[in-house]
Parts: sequence; C-alpha cells; structure tokens
Amino acid sequence: MKICRHFNRCGGCKLQDITYRKQLQLKTKLIKERAGKYGVAVKRRLKKIIPSPIKYNYRNKMEFTFYAEEDGGLCLGLHGNKQNRRVIELKECLIAGREVINVLRVTLKFGRKNNLKGYHRYRQKGYLRYLLIRKSLTKKEIMVILVTTGKGRFKKEEYVKKLLSLSRPGNNGYKITGIYHVINDSSADAVKFEKEKLLYGKEFIEERVGRITYRIYSQTFFQTNSRCLRALYAAAKKLLKPSKEDKVLDLFCGSGGIGLYIAKSVSEVTGIEVNSRAIENARENTRINSIKNMKFINDDVRFFLKDNQQELHGKFNKVIIDPPRAGISRKVFESLIKLDIPKVLYISCNPESLFDNIRLFIEVGYKLKVVQPVDMFPHTRHVENIALLEK
Ligand SMILES: C[S@@+](CC[C@H](N)C(=O)[O-])C[C@H]1O[C@@H](n2cnc3c(N)ncnc32)[C@H](O)[C@@H]1O
Repeated sequence: MKICRHFNRCGGCKLQDITYRKQLQLKTKLIKERAGKYGVAVKRRLKKIIPSPIKYNYRNKMEFTFYAEEDGGLCLGLHGNKQNRRVIELKECLIAGREVINVLRVTLKFGRKNNLKGYHRYRQKGYLRYLLIRKSLTKKEIMVILVTTGKGRFKKEEYVKKLLSLSRPGNNGYKITGIYHVINDSSADAVKFEKEKLLYGKEFIEERVGRITYRIYSQTFFQTNSRCLRALYAAAKKLLKPSKEDKVLDLFCGSGGIGLYIAKSVSEVTGIEVNSRAIENARENTRINSIKNMKFINDDVRFFLKDNQQELHGKFNKVIIDPPRAGISRKVFESLIKLDIPKVLYISCNPESLFDNIRLFIEVGYKLKVVQPVDMFPHTRHVENIALLEK
C-alpha cells in the first residue's frame, strides 16, 4: 500500500490508507446500502465488483487550480479537504502519475518566474485559473490546457519550449503532443472554454479501448480510467448480449463511448447527445473506426423522447442509458417507458441516482437482472455500476 505525501490534506483519494481489498468491500457495502435506501432488492443480483487493472497512475484527466496566496505568491494544485479548502501545491499524485506532476511543476515554475498572478475566485482578480492535463495511456500522449482570464498575457513560445523540454524517459515515456490556451472570464468556479487556441501540436489525443480508437479533444467527455474502461465496456457488452438483429438506442452517447464499442455486434445504434461538439467527435470516431451503422442526433434527451414518441415507438429493442451524475428525471423516464423497449442497460457513476431510477423501472414492471460494479476510481469513494433491467 502506498500513501501519498499529501494524504489527509488533499481532498482526493480518501481511501488510500486502507488495503485495496478493503476498498472494494467498502464500495460493495455502499452499493447495498444505497439499493436498500430506495427499496431495491439486489442480494443475488449484485455481482462481485470488477477491480481496476491498475491502481496508480490511472487517471487520464486532471484539473488543477491556480491560487493566489495572501502575499501574492502563486500556487497550483488540488483543493484541500473539507477542513482546509485552500489549494494544496502538489509535489506528487499517485493516481495521476509523474508525467502529470512534471507538467504541473514546469507550469508553476514558469508562472512564478514570469510573475503571473493566480486568480482569486472571490475577488475575481488575477490571470492564471486552471491547468488541465489529459493523457492517453495506450498512445502515451499528453494534452496540456492552460486556462487564464482574458486580462493579461504570457510568453507563449517560452511556455511551449519549457513543456517540450520534458523528455520522454523522465516523463514515464509520455510525449506532449498538444498545448492549448483557453480563455475563461466567467465568474463560475469551473472551467469554461470561452475561447481556445492551439499553441502547439495536434488538437486531439487518441486512446485505444479494445479494438476501438477514440479521439479525445480538449472538451471531450471520456471516462477517467482508460485501462479500466475496457473492463467496463466489456462487462456492459456481455450483459447487453448484442445480436445482429438489435436496434439500440444510446441515450447520452457523448462522443460515441459505449455505442462505438458494441456497434459492430448489432444491426444499428442511434446515439442522442446534447453537446454538438461531442456529436462531431462521435461522427469522426465512427469514420476512423470504419463503423457504418451508427447515427447520431444532436438533441436534448428530454425533448427528443417527448417530441418523437410516434416515430420512436417500437423502433428499438435495447436502450443504453449513461447519464450525468444526477441520473434521469421523472419526465425523461416517463417518455422513455412509453417507447416500450424490453431491455435497459443503465451505466452510472452515482449509486444514489442509479437506484432511485431503478426503483421507477421496477414500479412499472421491469425486473432488475444484474448490478455489476466496476472500480473505475481506486482510492476514492466513487464507484461505477452497470445495471441490467428487462421486461
Ligand atoms: C456520462 S456521459 C456519457 C458518455 C458516453 N455514453 C460514453 O460512453 O462515453 C453523459 C453525457 O450526457 C450528455 N448530456 C447531459 N445532459 C444531456 C441531455 N439532457 N440530453 C442529451 N445529452 C445530455 C453530456 O454532454 C455527456 O456527454
């Protein structure tokens, strides 16, 4: 068991002081509790949790925050725990890896040397806001995204040069293949891509999951543990039992994710996604993977299901639902069940909303067949689940 030097101060990885086996037991207990809370009987239906094949360096995306100290000094890292919300300057991060910390250190040194000011979120003053780092574990590519306000400037060539000086061997074999500058003047405490400019390299990194290549752009949603993603998608595919007659509706399809993974085993997949860039990304993913039986509709699931009841009724025999943390609303649920789709595969990163939603399906006659947990997030309390419901 490894314990990071920021443990107890940093807000992430709260479970790293217990063995991995105990972490999995704890997550299983949590799933049972949540199911119980919503009156969903899971006893024999709950499968053994699938562990992550890697426990460290697994995160393919990190979001660090700049912070202005009281004396004006610059800090960059992750938010501390509840007792200590200020940003912790990270010297290591066991789930992100040395290659990510190297980028953080170079950026912080560059900012300090050039006397750039960290953004103060209450005073809404300062220049540097966030540093996002994405990496592909299979292709060993890194994308760096520096987010600033629009009021200021930095020496772009010097920053690019400093980042590129990180050598592959010292960087766990990773190469920086793209560097972006994003401007974000919004007062919200979250990264907003108001303007983005590619300063160096290519616009995307590529990750391979099984036989599928995924292009990941600066804003693409992609599950954060690429290595465990294969286990997640493989387990989902096994439960879905795809056949060449299947017509699958893929709600909240993002940039293709699970839909691309099963497409070649079914007749057709129709993906629905509200984000137009994700849809462009998904279409590109079908092209580079020579997938011809997927189509995408750029719409809000809420309106899409409500407004197209007649055309959609009886058209699909399987539906995949992979919504944001909040799950699906009662309205979406009510429109969905009117389509009379016999098999529902629900992928969720939030057991709370998952069982709340499952309860609704059970109330209208669906049977819960399987709940398969997958540990996408070692050392944290988070857990992914796949649930199979059938009529
Ligand atoms: C958890 S991700 C699922 C990604 C995808 N299924 C995969 O396998 O990678 C949730 C997706 O739902 C999209 N989304 C959120 N609200 C939506 C809505 N009301 N209608 C359609 N898509 C929505 C988000 O943009 C995001 O891409």
